[in-house]
Amino acid sequence: MLQVKKRDSWGSRLGIIMSVAGSAVGLGNFLRFPAKVASNGGGAFMIPYFVSLFLLGLPLMWIEWTLGRFGGGFEHSTAPGIFHSIWRKNRFIKYFGVIGIFGPLIIFIYYIYIESWTLGYSIFSLLGKYRNLTDQATMQSFLKGFQGLEKNQFFESLGWAYTFFVITFVLNIVIISYGIKGGIERICKLAMPLLFVCALVLLIRVITLGTPDPTKPSWNIFNGFGFLWNPDFSALRSAKVWLEAAGQIFFTLSVGIGVILTYASYLSKGDDVVLSGLTAASTNELAEVILGGSIIIPAAFVFFGPQEIQSIARSGVFNLGFVTMPLVLNKLPLAQIFGFIWFFLLFLAGITSSVSLCQPAVAFLEDEFNLSRKRAVLLFGLISFVLCQPTIFFLKNGLVDELDFWGGTFCLVLFATVETILFAWILGMENAWSEIHRGADLVIPRTYKFVIKYITPLFLFFILGMWFWQEWLPVIMMKGVSVQNRIFVLATRWGLLSIFSILALLVKIAWRRKKLNS
Ligand code: ALA
Repeated sequence: MLQVKKRDSWGSRLGIIMSVAGSAVGLGNFLRFPAKVASNGGGAFMIPYFVSLFLLGLPLMWIEWTLGRFGGGFEHSTAPGIFHSIWRKNRFIKYFGVIGIFGPLIIFIYYIYIESWTLGYSIFSLLGKYRNLTDQATMQSFLKGFQGLEKNQFFESLGWAYTFFVITFVLNIVIISYGIKGGIERICKLAMPLLFVCALVLLIRVITLGTPDPTKPSWNIFNGFGFLWNPDFSALRSAKVWLEAAGQIFFTLSVGIGVILTYASYLSKGDDVVLSGLTAASTNELAEVILGGSIIIPAAFVFFGPQEIQSIARSGVFNLGFVTMPLVLNKLPLAQIFGFIWFFLLFLAGITSSVSLCQPAVAFLEDEFNLSRKRAVLLFGLISFVLCQPTIFFLKNGLVDELDFWGGTFCLVLFATVETILFAWILGMENAWSEIHRGADLVIPRTYKFVIKYITPLFLFFILGMWFWQEWLPVIMMKGVSVQNRIFVLATRWGLLSIFSILALLVKIAWRRKKLNS
């Protein structure tokens, strides 16, 4: 006899808002955002950033909450089923939905490894393992040693990184195995307030740094904020700056990935999505612009000054978080405690995001193959564990960048474009508008009807078009990839293509089975 499974659900409204905010607030807020601002025109970056927030981020937040809740009504929690429920006549649309499972899976397999470093470093900080390191070179070498990138010590040093990876991986899988209410919601309700407390402690510490070196009076905290926020309006003429701002909005809000769609599918038909979506997005923006923007760059400025900070800001998010920040904190009293708070903050931000990245694949197995949660989680755990291995063992060969580009950048824009077209043009703007407002506690300004129908898709087409125009050929030809890394990048691309094809095949099998059973 066919067993009818009870669908998972959220425990409370606060719980889902915290969970969506938890998915959004991540490493991107505290590492990626400040680096982007500092290297793309300072305060001027905030113009394309806010334009993207209002024309892409917020509309997509509402679109995903609404599509997710709509699909949940048909017992579908992932994009293939949700897209199919909207456009039943189209046989192919479910395959576009595969991006909404593929994207989060690919992000997960590198994100979790970086997340595990934050756990490792928070413990190293408490134990004072890097306490005596005082310059960029030694701290950099400590990081490389930890990652197994130092010559002649691959296995002995990677052992620590691997141990923390396994702990972090198991933690994620255990949380997911407890389900939406018992796992994700419970952890986010705990972690999010704690994360804000950690960020506030660091913020207050940074603001009160004053002028640590009295011989260099201009290296003060006001100029530190000035470095980050003073606008360079000439940056606005660069298409790259606009694309980077839009990319940051996608990444930070977790839109275009497929996770919000899945989270919202566990809502009931009459649950509000307008105010909840807005609250989750606002929480993320508070964490990003106010907290994320006020910690790492101003703190680094007062200790390293205006010259060095330029190269620090451009040196990439890993260096900022794992080299510069520990060096800065090492110069303070109670360095080990502050170091712990910094890395633990990153760990909390990371874990509330990574559990959300697991959920689409798990939900797909549950919904479309009728697997029990335990089985779905076990299968997901085994497969994703294997998929994580190349990132760990071939870190230096450009795998993270490659996965981040396809899974964490390209797919987001593509998926968002499909979602917007489906929502505004296939479901139709009138239906879509009343669907958004079903059970809503707030009415969206009517201008957004126009924005969602015309501006958001045009903006997305513009981004995709620009990318094809400027980047397609160089990316395909692996321009800028070193000769020794090309084989790894090529293998990664074949691997990604294979994963996508397998997922598409699974969708085909699931639909065929359903057809036979109906
Ligand atoms: N939104 C998540 C982050 O910012 C993925 O890290």
